[in-house]
Amino acid sequence: MSKIRVDSVYKIFGDDPDTALKMLKEGASKAEIQDKTGQVVGVNNASFNVEEGEIFVIMGLSGSGKSTVVRLLNRLIEPTYGTVEIDGEDITKMNPEQLRALRSRKMSMVFQRFALFPHRTVVENASYGLEVHRVPEAERIERGSESLKRVGLEGWDNNYPGELSGGMQQRVGLARALAVDSDIMLMDEAFSALDPLIRREMQDQLLGLQSELKKTIVFITHDLNEAMKLGDHIAVMRDGAIVQIGTAEDILTNPADDYVASFIEDVDRTRVIIASSVMRNPRETVSVADGPTVALRKMKDAQLSECLVLDRNRKVVGVVRDDDLARLSRERAESIESVINTDVPRSAPDAPIADLYAAAAETTIPIVIENEDGRMLGIVPRVSLLAALSGEDGTNGS
Ligand SMILES: Nc1ncnc2c1ncn2[C@@H]1O[C@H](COP(=O)(O)OP(=O)(O)OP(=O)(O)O)[C@@H](O)[C@H]1O
Ligand SMILES: [Mg+2]
Repeated sequence: MSKIRVDSVYKIFGDDPDTALKMLKEGASKAEIQDKTGQVVGVNNASFNVEEGEIFVIMGLSGSGKSTVVRLLNRLIEPTYGTVEIDGEDITKMNPEQLRALRSRKMSMVFQRFALFPHRTVVENASYGLEVHRVPEAERIERGSESLKRVGLEGWDNNYPGELSGGMQQRVGLARALAVDSDIMLMDEAFSALDPLIRREMQDQLLGLQSELKKTIVFITHDLNEAMKLGDHIAVMRDGAIVQIGTAEDILTNPADDYVASFIEDVDRTRVIIASSVMRNPRETVSVADGPTVALRKMKDAQLSECLVLDRNRKVVGVVRDDDLARLSRERAESIESVINTDVPRSAPDAPIADLYAAAAETTIPIVIENEDGRMLGIVPRVSLLAALSGEDGTNGS
């Protein structure tokens, strides 16, 4: 069962949602509806699932409906149409009591500019979420202090927010969400106001925490690099609609439309494209059992001066050169084993191609992509790396 299920949700802001909804379903655009009826389309037919323990990123331009979606998840905003389920329960049917429990126990929120109380200490701020549902003070302080430790603010408990840098204050916000220990964290541009370096630090910290705590996180951002770094799945929104949902790899290699493509222009492609998506089959390989004359002939036919040598399990033993084979052939040697160079760069299929560059710089031998038991899956020649970097291999969809 999915942790969060959003099914065919619409949100129209204004006093005549029915007319707007009808127009939307007939295919009118957000701008058209706003022109003709004054109603604002916040969310247009959004459906998605968030699985337990994943980071689900929502990205899109300003006004595309990201914050509205997040507020629909804890019913700070009522959907005009559609259902939202948390742990299989339809929250649109919850009474105020159930809703209060949902918001205070199951979910916590972190915003872009986290409002800390200036006259409360850091630990009081961090434990504020517990005050709301009446956890005794001593326990509150203990849990607040614990979560401050988690975000790297050990020892700052009794300082005041004004004594902390912006980045540290944002950590207090994160600590506050952690102290509640809710299953679900909703993070709306939580890192967007931070300097780039601190921002990256916070991203790493979140990933570190996540590997331990395994929360279900809905994370909103404008920034594709952030989305790619954090998101197990990414949903891209435009004019209230979700135009694409997929992994970073899906979105990068197969953007649904020009809007999505325009987002991925500035991303560091080398960190998100993985080896398996640029590898190909070698033109030819030789077998360790081949004699030098047979091996040489295969290479000549394939016009290769260097060639990978495989054993019978498709494991790469090494590489041979045509001039060495020609010599062995003249000497009437029976085996090619004496000239196999075993120094071959190797990588796993899920390695980001950034990790392959160092290997590619040192040798002309293509990088061998192999699975865990050493069987060759394919190769990545140097030229493919360069092509992937520039998007000329077609992975940018254009
Ligand atoms: N309370 C409201 N009343 C009327 N319209 C609203 C309200 N809240 C949001 N909207 C409209 O709904 C649309 C989506 O807004 P939303 O805040 O969800 O966008 P966003 O993607 O979070 O943008 P940003 O990146 O700027 O935070 C916008 O057109 C906005 O003007
Ligand atoms: Mg927003």
